[in-house]
Amino acid sequence: MSEESVERKAPYVIEWREGFKIGLAQVDAEHRHLFTLVRALNLQSVQQTVEELLDYVVTHFSNEQELMESSGYPAFEQHLKLHEEFGAHVADFLGNQDEWTEERVQELRRFLNKWLIGHIMTHDLRFGKWHASHKPKPAPVIAKPEHKSGFFARLFGRG
Ligand SMILES: [Fe+2]
Repeated sequence: MSEESVERKAPYVIEWREGFKIGLAQVDAEHRHLFTLVRALNLQSVQQTVEELLDYVVTHFSNEQELMESSGYPAFEQHLKLHEEFGAHVADFLGNQDEWTEERVQELRRFLNKWLIGHIMTHDLRFGKWHASHKPKPAPVIAKPEHKSGFFARLFGRG
């Protein structure tokens, strides 16, 4: 096998790294697991891995969306659209009934890795930053009115 063909056939693998964190523990853990599932894609068990991966994507998107919606994230609707576009793209890819080949598995893995990194580092990170600066504030402490002892207070019976 020539060096060139070895290089061409080397699997496209991107490992999750700390730099992908958006600062929300649950979302970060789910992203990390997504990378593990993408890495596990291989021709031998492609059908099963793809199903597992898509199941997990659905779970992850709903969790993330739930978090965005419940925290009042202003760009929630736009973000939802990005998730839907991703779903449509994957459905398109899987919908054409081509048989699985090593190249097709690589193509899917490359698309998923690139999409994930682009999406996380731009849109999810934006949410992470927004979330960090909009932490729910503790309920305001209502100060008891000061006991008035001045002339007017005495005049109105609170002296
Ligand atoms: Fe997202």
